Amino acid sequence: MCGIIAYTGPRQALNLLVDGLHRLEYRGYDSAGIAVQSPKGQLHVEKQVGRVTELARKLPAKVPGTCGIAHTRWATHGGVTTENCHPHLDALERIAVVHNGIIENMGPLKARLVAEGVRFRSETDTEVIVHLIAHFYDGMGALGDSVSPDAAGDPVVALRSALARLRGTWGLAVIFADHPGVVFAARNGSPLVVGLGEGETFLASDPHALTPHTRRVVFLHDGELARIDTSGVQTYRLDGASKSHTVDTLEQEWGDSSLGEFPHYMLKEIHEQPEALRQCLSGRLVVEEGTARLGGLDLGPRELVRLPHVTLLGCGTAFHACLVGAGAIEQLARIPARAEIASEHRLRNPVIDPEALFFAVSQSGETADTLGAVKEVQVKGGQVMGVVNVVGSSIARACGRGVYIHSGPEMAVASTKAFSNMVTALLLFALQLGRTRALSPLQGRELAVALQDAPSLLRAYLAQPGPIEDAVRAVIGAKMVLFLGRGASAAVAAEGALKLMEVAYIPCVAYPSGEMKHGPIALLEPGSPVVVIAPDDGLKDKTLSNLQECRARGARIILIYTEGDHEAAALADVAIAVPRSHPLLSPLVTVLPLQLLAYRAGLALGRDIDRPRNLAKSVTVE
Ligand code: G6P
Repeated sequence: MCGIIAYTGPRQALNLLVDGLHRLEYRGYDSAGIAVQSPKGQLHVEKQVGRVTELARKLPAKVPGTCGIAHTRWATHGGVTTENCHPHLDALERIAVVHNGIIENMGPLKARLVAEGVRFRSETDTEVIVHLIAHFYDGMGALGDSVSPDAAGDPVVALRSALARLRGTWGLAVIFADHPGVVFAARNGSPLVVGLGEGETFLASDPHALTPHTRRVVFLHDGELARIDTSGVQTYRLDGASKSHTVDTLEQEWGDSSLGEFPHYMLKEIHEQPEALRQCLSGRLVVEEGTARLGGLDLGPRELVRLPHVTLLGCGTAFHACLVGAGAIEQLARIPARAEIASEHRLRNPVIDPEALFFAVSQSGETADTLGAVKEVQVKGGQVMGVVNVVGSSIARACGRGVYIHSGPEMAVASTKAFSNMVTALLLFALQLGRTRALSPLQGRELAVALQDAPSLLRAYLAQPGPIEDAVRAVIGAKMVLFLGRGASAAVAAEGALKLMEVAYIPCVAYPSGEMKHGPIALLEPGSPVVVIAPDDGLKDKTLSNLQECRARGARIILIYTEGDHEAAALADVAIAVPRSHPLLSPLVTVLPLQLLAYRAGLALGRDIDRPRNLAKSVTVE
C-alpha cells in the first residue's frame, strides 16, 4: 500500500528517493511521484502512473536538490491518474505533501476551501491537507471554526492547525520551498520512522526503506509531529509542546530480501519455508518436558492456567492462520478459542473479558484493521499480544508483548512463509498452554518432536511437489474453483482459495466440506474443478464423502492427500501427495501444493505474480 520516503542531507536527493521507492514497491501500489526542493527555492515535482521504473524513466537526468519527498500511491480517493498521484501542491506551489491514510472529513473541508476560492487539481483527500496547511501558513485564520494560533510563516504551527481539523489517519511528509533542507512529518495511525544518518536524515513509512542507509531510527507515535533536518529530528505533540524521543536500532539480521536465483519472490518465499520454520522454532521447544516456551509472552504457568478463553484476530492470510491456531488451542488446552476477522471484531463493540487473552496476528504489523482491533481490546481493558513478523512494527509496539514469527522479509504480496510461521507460533502457544492443563508429558513430547521435524517434512515435499502442472491445467480456464476441507483443512482451503484468487485472478470459493451441500454444490457442472484437502487426520473419511458428492456431479477433483493413502488418491483426477504429519501439523504441509498451484497458475496466465493488481502487502487503510 502507499509508501513514503524522504531525504535531507548533503547528497543529491533524486536517486536516493527513487531507490527508496523501489524498496517500497513490494507493498503494492499503482502510481508514484517525487518532489525535490531545488536550490533556487522551487519545488520540482514529477508523477507517473504505473511502476517506479516508469517514473524513473520519465525523470530528467538531473533534478538538483538535496532534500525531497516521494510516494507510492495505492488509490483510495480518486482513480489511478497522474493528477491524483502524490505529491500534491498548494495553489502557489510552495508546499508539497505526500500522505498515507485516509481523511474522513475531506467533504466538508473541501467545501470550505472551495468556498474560499481554492481550486482543486485532483480528486484526492490528500489535496485537502496541502491547501489547509497553505491556508494557515498564509495566516488566513480560523477557516470558519475555532480560532487558530497565528501560523503565518511557521510550518509547524500551520501543520498543527491543519491537523487539528483533520479526521482520519495519516502519515505525512511535507516540504516547503522556503524552508530548505527541512522535512516536516506527522503521524496518526499510519506508520512513519525517521532514519538517523551521519549529517543526513531519512523518513520512511517502512523501516525496510532505511536499512541501506542507517539502522538508527526513531519511530514516530500517533499524534506526533516532527521536524527533520540534516542534524536529526525534533518531535512535537499536536499541542505544540516538544517531546523527547528514543533512538532504536533496527535488527541486523532481518534476512535476505534479494531475489537470488528465483524468478519471483513468491516462489523464493515458498521455498524458504523449511528454513523460516526452523527459525521460528529455534530455542522455543523444550522436548524433554514436552512443551514450548514463548519468552516474549512473559506468561507463567500460573497465569496460563487461569485463562478462560483465547481470541485470535487477523486479516487475510493471518486470519486463516488464526483459524488453524484456534482449533489447535481448543484441541490441546480444552478451552474455548476462536478466530475473528479483525475489521469485524473492532467495530462490533465486542465483549472483552479482561481475564482472557487476545492475539493480534499480522505479518507486517501495520494492518490498520488489526491495529484498530488491538486498540479496541485495550480500551476495554483486555490483554492483547502480537504474533507478528516485522520487529518494531506498530502492532508489535502497541501490544508490547508477543511472539515474533521470524519469517524474515516477505516481499511478495501473496503471503506464504508468514502463514506457516504464524501457524507454527500458534501451535507452540497451544502446546505451552495445553501443558498447563490436560495435555500429558507424553502427548506434549509427541507434538514437540513433530514440530522439531516439521522443517524436514516441508523440505521433502518441496523436493517432490507432485503433479502441480496437471492441477494448473484443470483450473486456469475455470469459471470458478471450489476449495473444500474440514477442521484445520477448512482453513487451508480458505488460504488456498485466497492464494489462487490473489495471484491468478480466478474466482474461488472455499467452504468447510460439510457445508458444501448447503450452497456451493449448485455451482458444480461437469468439469468444474474442486480442490479437496483431505490429509489423514481423523476427519478424512467425511471429507471424502463430500468429494464423492462432487464427483457425482461431474466435478474434476484435485486432491491433496497423505502419501500412501491409495484409496483416497484413486478418487481424484489429480492427486497430490504430501508427507504424513502429526494431525495438528497438517496445514503446514497441505498448504504447500496450494501455494505452488497459485504460483504456477498465475505464471501460466501471465499475471504479475509478486504484485497482483489492486492488492497491497501492508494494508494501512481501514
Ligand atoms: C493484505 C495482504 C495479505 C495479508 C493481509 C494481512 O491483504 O495482501 O497477504 O494476509 O494483508 O496482512 P498482515 O500484514 O496483517 O499479515
